[in-house]
Amino acid sequence: MKKIALVWLMSSFLLSCQNNHKVSESTQKSVSKNTPNLIDSNRQNDGAALLKQYCAACHMLTPDPAKRDKMAAPPFVRVVEHYKARYPSEKQFVAAIVKWVNHPTDDAVQMPGAVRHFGLMPSMPVGDENIKKIATYLYRYDFGNFGGGHRGRMQNMHNRQTGQKAELQKADVIKIKQSIQWLQNTSLASVTDYQNLGKKLFNTAKGILLNPAYKSQDLSQVQQFFHSIEADMHNLMSVKTKKDGEKYRRQLLTKMADYKQFLK
Ligand code: HEC
Repeated sequence: MKKIALVWLMSSFLLSCQNNHKVSESTQKSVSKNTPNLIDSNRQNDGAALLKQYCAACHMLTPDPAKRDKMAAPPFVRVVEHYKARYPSEKQFVAAIVKWVNHPTDDAVQMPGAVRHFGLMPSMPVGDENIKKIATYLYRYDFGNFGGGHRGRMQNMHNRQTGQKAELQKADVIKIKQSIQWLQNTSLASVTDYQNLGKKLFNTAKGILLNPAYKSQDLSQVQQFFHSIEADMHNLMSVKTKKDGEKYRRQLLTKMADYKQFLK
């Protein structure tokens, strides 16, 4: 008797699972029926819903000044800016986000300032297919006026040094001097050489930014300095021609060599 009750319980449990599944499937179908019947826009709608479900608890799409204190993560407009600078094509961008969401590590970080501010993002076991949809949605999302502003600000910040200079740790001074030496190398032969230089510089900068020794005032100075060269580093990492590579190499060299404006 007991056995039968158990089997009955289990099968009704299984059935109810299946039913739930069916309900959600049919809801999905009816949702997509009401939208233009392009596979693409279907994917976009999925992306929006999945983003809401899995990411929106922490990330807003665009910053909302009223919720500034409640922000738990950088708004997606900033995330997308950083990722598009480093991964310009949709394919690269999506792959990078999939990798990140599965396994956020200091090595993969593109936004070290955000890590210092919010702490490292927890990994989200959401499934590659779902992350791909979210990432595609983000890549194609039109952020309107919010887009592009930050990069302009990053570039302009260089001359607006404010407050006390940060006291750099000896090891970090050495890293900066090393970076300057890399930038002085005028015998870069290929576009890849320039991209690799950009990556090396970015990883070095990241190491310094993530150094827990820097706090409050010092940290904000260190961040200001690296923000001022961030756009150039991103551009160098994803450069397409040697001519542009040369342009960013020179710009970075000038700005890096000027580090004593911010740091001592
Ligand atoms: C529990 C809160 C939380 C959730 C949920 C969350 N994130 Fe994050 N995310 C963060 C924080 C905090 C950061 C900033 C620190 C960092 O970069 O690790 C971040 C940063 C990121 C970055 C930039 C990483 C970098 O290179 O620095 C990406 C990309 C990202 N999130 C994507 C997502 C996506 C996509 C989802 C949904 C699947 C998601 N996040 C859900 C907290 C969250």
